[in-house]
Amino acid sequence: MHIVFAASECVPFAKTGGLADVVGALPPELVKLGHEVTVYLPLYAGVERHIEGEWKYAIRSITIPFEYYNRFAGIVDGGKRAGVQYYFMDCPELFDREELYGPKGGEFPNNWERFGLYCRAVLEAAKLLGVPEIFHVHDWQAALIPVYLRTTYAADPQLGRAGTVLTIHNAGYQGWFPPPTTERLLFPWDLFTMDKLEQFDTFNFLKGGLIYSDILTTVSRKYAEEIQTPEFGEKLDSVLRGRSADVRGILNGVDYAKWDPATDKHLAARFSPEDLSGKAACREDLLHAFGMEHVGPATPIIGIVSRFAAQKGFDLVEQIAPLLVDRDVAVLALGSGEPRYEKFFRDWAFWHKANVGVQIRYDDSLAHKIEAGSDMFLMPSRYEPCGLNQIYSLKYGAVPVVRATGGLDDTIEEWDAEKGTGTGFKFGGYSAAGLMTAIDRALAAFQDKSGWKRLMLNGMARNYSWEQPAREYAAVYKEVAGRRN
Ligand code: ADP
Ligand code: GLC
Repeated sequence: MHIVFAASECVPFAKTGGLADVVGALPPELVKLGHEVTVYLPLYAGVERHIEGEWKYAIRSITIPFEYYNRFAGIVDGGKRAGVQYYFMDCPELFDREELYGPKGGEFPNNWERFGLYCRAVLEAAKLLGVPEIFHVHDWQAALIPVYLRTTYAADPQLGRAGTVLTIHNAGYQGWFPPPTTERLLFPWDLFTMDKLEQFDTFNFLKGGLIYSDILTTVSRKYAEEIQTPEFGEKLDSVLRGRSADVRGILNGVDYAKWDPATDKHLAARFSPEDLSGKAACREDLLHAFGMEHVGPATPIIGIVSRFAAQKGFDLVEQIAPLLVDRDVAVLALGSGEPRYEKFFRDWAFWHKANVGVQIRYDDSLAHKIEAGSDMFLMPSRYEPCGLNQIYSLKYGAVPVVRATGGLDDTIEEWDAEKGTGTGFKFGGYSAAGLMTAIDRALAAFQDKSGWKRLMLNGMARNYSWEQPAREYAAVYKEVAGRRN
């Protein structure tokens, strides 16, 4: 089958979070299963340095009409990697920027236009470069593809048979814009109703995708249930309940070619379940990277690597911050995003240099070093559709301490010291007290060296490779293609 992937992020070209890891890793796995996969990405400023070989256009210019003007997009042929064909949408006035969505975790005001153009141009490009059996679109940025396909392009003889799968990586971001977006994107006003694109008087990209896609998937079983409830549905729960027969939860895999301490090129030393000794060198290297060489060998290190957004639960960390620095523990955090969390971490590190180290930026190499050098890894998320860092942590022997939500709940099993089973520590309710007791359980367990080793090895033995999820996606594509025929 031919599948077109449409998404706003994909490693190695453009990344702000886990979406990029997924869109980078799933297509090659589908190719291994015998499918043909084409990925369309916006040509952001940072993409060009990853394009190998000679720069050539697959399509010189596509015209995308808006209400009062036209825009023009070229399609650059990024060539094939691991059997996957990459195309980049070249529209410099919209995409030639360093930030993908906006400055400092914010939004560019014309994101409706940027991703509206992207969606429509993917369909136009596919008509020239190959119409797939399935458009697999990801998150709100690509969610208008199914909408255009079933409305503006409904009578198109080439596109008509294509099926659509929308994967929700994060229901917290929906692409809300003012009502006139409807006509700016040349949709008829009768699409702007509560059963279609309207959501409380805004034009909602994601909602359109939920209504018009053949099948909806999300990135863990638990989150597939959660988003159908008012607590997690981000006001789309009733739409999702209405489509519950078509909602599937498929847990993300991780790319062990990039995230395995036995082969990881970013580390000072390699280690594996058979020989853990390299982890000590990784710890030294990590402490050095944070200027925290004073931290003694018996002190556990808690690592954090994250976008700083409300989703990630750092307001709970803020509440327990004074208590945590009284424990014998070092916290090393890497992240960037909303100014309020950047400020909290900066201030915390400033006042507690003995225990807390923080680096405010995006740094892939340091992210690997944190996984490898930490004893524990903290993810107290308010919600977490899947979460990849806790899965990386398992492999690196950094024991996850997580809130039991979404993919965190599906992937982490509470440690049972008596039976020697489990992989981490979880807390349920979203409370500072819950977080503190989970960390205290972890700190207590850390004192028992042989138990801790068992716990690390349990996690390192878990396998979350893409093989199984890729088969599950292939089954979904088959189901959709069957319906369309
Ligand atoms: P989300 O997609 O919600 O941000 P995930 O856990 O699925 O959460 O994925 C986050 C990905 O982004 C991981 O690969 C993680 O290593 C990476 N990441 C997040 N923040 C940073 C940062 N500041 N520097 C380097 N990598 C980061
Ligand atoms: C989103 C979610 C995260 C998930 C990632 C990849 O950004 O926040 O939980 O792992 O997408 O699916």
